[in-house]
Amino acid sequence: MVTTIVTIRGDETDEAKIAQAGELLKAGKLVAFPTETVYGLGANALDAQAASKIYSAKGRPSDNPLIVHIADWDALGLIVSEIPAKARMLAEKFWPGPLTMIFPKSSRVPYETTGGLDTVAVRMPGNDIALRLIRAGGGYIAAPSANTSGRPSPTSAQHVKDDLDGKIDMIVDGGEVSIGLESTIVDLSEEEPAILRPGYITRAMLEEVIGEVQVDQALIKDDSNIIPKAPGMKYRHYAPKADLLVVEGRQQDVIGKINELVRDKAEHGLTAGVICTEESRPYYEAEILRVIGSREDENSIARNLFAILREFDSLEVDGIYSESFESPGLGQAIMNRLLKAAGHQVLQVGSGGVSKYSRLLFVSSGNTCVSPMAEGIARKKLEGKGIEILSRGMVVLFPEPLNQKAEAVMIRNGIKPGRHMSCQLSREDLGDGCLVLTVDRKQKEEIQAAYPEQNNVYTLEEYAGCQGLSSPYGGELADYGRCFEQLERMIDKAVRRMEWEGRL
Ligand code: TXA
Ligand code: MG
Repeated sequence: MVTTIVTIRGDETDEAKIAQAGELLKAGKLVAFPTETVYGLGANALDAQAASKIYSAKGRPSDNPLIVHIADWDALGLIVSEIPAKARMLAEKFWPGPLTMIFPKSSRVPYETTGGLDTVAVRMPGNDIALRLIRAGGGYIAAPSANTSGRPSPTSAQHVKDDLDGKIDMIVDGGEVSIGLESTIVDLSEEEPAILRPGYITRAMLEEVIGEVQVDQALIKDDSNIIPKAPGMKYRHYAPKADLLVVEGRQQDVIGKINELVRDKAEHGLTAGVICTEESRPYYEAEILRVIGSREDENSIARNLFAILREFDSLEVDGIYSESFESPGLGQAIMNRLLKAAGHQVLQVGSGGVSKYSRLLFVSSGNTCVSPMAEGIARKKLEGKGIEILSRGMVVLFPEPLNQKAEAVMIRNGIKPGRHMSCQLSREDLGDGCLVLTVDRKQKEEIQAAYPEQNNVYTLEEYAGCQGLSSPYGGELADYGRCFEQLERMIDKAVRRMEWEGRL
């Protein structure tokens, strides 16, 4: 397929171009277009076949619903079965604008558009080209961000072309977007309004209009057990090719630490890039330095975030260190995207800096199976690094030897299990230099409750920034083999993180 690119120039030729794009949409084709947030990949939302094409062009999982874009308030009635009073109030204040609301859907909206849900997400974008195109295309345009699934959302027509050239019919180039982060999503289909995705319209702005608004728990806690209400938020949106680590703390401590880490990488022949701000730029020594914007203007940071992440993918760097951009307004939306890209890898620095870990401790429930396997794998990987590796259990009534299947799997993979006996966790095992990685969340919470002074307690999944560890207990030998592989992959990532944080 040839992708036609038309450029909107603000002259008399625009109308014909928009009409042409509108005809394509009406004929069930795919057209990417600018909105004020990010570029969208449009298709007729009421045409099941057209909506399905979006999923294949983007490589998007089919359970991830699309947002229907409208251009006029009156259009809403046809696609929703109910308009709550609060939705009306929010629309009056924020539409057209970067706010998406979830409604119970009407039968006119095909399940292809809503990913099988009985609710539909609707937004009226605050961009003139988008509004004219929606009208020209029939009034109901389903449009997810116009990127390949797993890449950062596009903030320019070039980004769309980089991802989707040859896969869609047209790109309407309307220049760079003004906001740069996807719209705020609010769910009004249930009793309590809730934010499912933070964006330019903040919680405070919403509460000023409709009173209390909840925030989806999945956005607040980095907990893989809480399923986000917006299906799209469960996907790790974007993982840069290089490791991305966010460094948090006082400004001078952060700069000092990042400089030290970059120097250390260089000594080992590795190249690290840095994401900084106008204000901090003069203090960095890194060769590959990207200014995301100014702390005086959080909009500038939002606008440039995705473009910088894309740029780093085309640069040959081994890792990226970024400052943190927490701020009262847009900060939540910015950090939501940045932390996702970082797989939630955050390094906290105090004025004393960070010291190297002296002990790595794996904790499971009984210490007969998963944690000793993890111990064995880590021993092999970290040999000679001067870090002690241990494993312990939370409930060990009497010492037991290693589970036989776990032992068999370890031996098959070239790891000598030694003479392991399960052992109860005690205070002496912990301490300042100890990194504690638990097999599941329950053990992490128990340790935090019993030893509140202990820092650096993570689940293995969260520390490694990936999911999928399942206990093989009581299963077949093959289940133990799978668990071993999962552990290897996670411990690889955990070791990389320790290295990038300078703690190894
Ligand atoms: O700013 C934006 O919203 C951009 C521009 C193009 O308008 N669009 C966008 O679409 O970001 P997309 O598909 O990348 O993200 C849509 C999000 C996904 O996380 C999806 O799961 C959620 O909205 N969503 C859509 N319909 C939903 C529904 N009925 N219930 C809950 N979440 C829904
Ligand atoms: Mg998207």
